Amino acid sequence: MNPLLELARERLRGKRVIAVMSAKGGVGKSTVASLIALNLSERQNTAIIDLDIYGNSTLKLFGISKLHGVSKNGIEPFKVGNVSIFSIGGIVGDRYVVLTGSEEGNVLESLLGLSNVNEETVIIDMPPGMGEELLTLKRVVNPEVFLVTLPSKLSVMTVKHMLDYLLDSKIEVKRIIANMCYLKTPEGLIYPFGKPDIVEDLGKKHGIRVEHLPVDPELENFAGRIQEYSGVLKEEVRKFLS
Ligand SMILES: Nc1ncnc2c1ncn2[C@@H]1O[C@H](COP(=O)(O)OP(=O)(O)OP(=O)(O)O)[C@@H](O)[C@H]1O
Ligand SMILES: [Mg+2]
Repeated sequence: MNPLLELARERLRGKRVIAVMSAKGGVGKSTVASLIALNLSERQNTAIIDLDIYGNSTLKLFGISKLHGVSKNGIEPFKVGNVSIFSIGGIVGDRYVVLTGSEEGNVLESLLGLSNVNEETVIIDMPPGMGEELLTLKRVVNPEVFLVTLPSKLSVMTVKHMLDYLLDSKIEVKRIIANMCYLKTPEGLIYPFGKPDIVEDLGKKHGIRVEHLPVDPELENFAGRIQEYSGVLKEEVRKFLS
């Protein structure tokens, strides 16, 4: 028996776990994960666990620069309204993390197992790629996946491999999210990557619904205070959660 793995499994047992992931970096996973959590938190207590140990950005999005406290129940997440937030950034502070491949899985299992997350719904902000984080998550829990991509050819081609892997692994992919599809201007809609037909085709092939999110230039003003953002992106995310 691996005690850390058992602890992590026990911690998430019976909970709804939504993993926001992509094989591609910088496509909006952390943003979408935060907006899912903020929307759901209007109805129920919700937690975010940031599994991006190297590029952790959830705390940055929420403007948190403190360290987690510890209680007899584990490491205590931060509370922002009804959202509990747990990240390795709350352990190491403003320092980088470097791990060997063999250490990685243990650290990830410890994060999942030691975080005192009690909420019924847990959103996991995943790092880009298909490395140890994905394997660890799969060992611990069977999540629902929201798979994020840009509607660009390069992004969709990369994300397709992750989708194949998830389907082969019998992991439920709830939605494919085509982020930054269009920008509203007074002259009409602009599609920076062209019309998102390739994402539609990927969704259709596997019977998975595709959601289209806009570019919101306002979002940048809310870096560090995403909890105050109530713009179009949050509204669009709300629509596909209901
Ligand atoms: N729909 C959007 N409109 C405008 N800006 C966006 C949108 N989605 C994401 N962004 C911006 O794009 C950048 C990357 O977003 P984010 O950090 O959420 O991506 P990520 O996929 O989590 O990246 P990483 O792979 O590094 O974890 C951020 O600056 C974010 O504010
Ligand atoms: Mg991220």
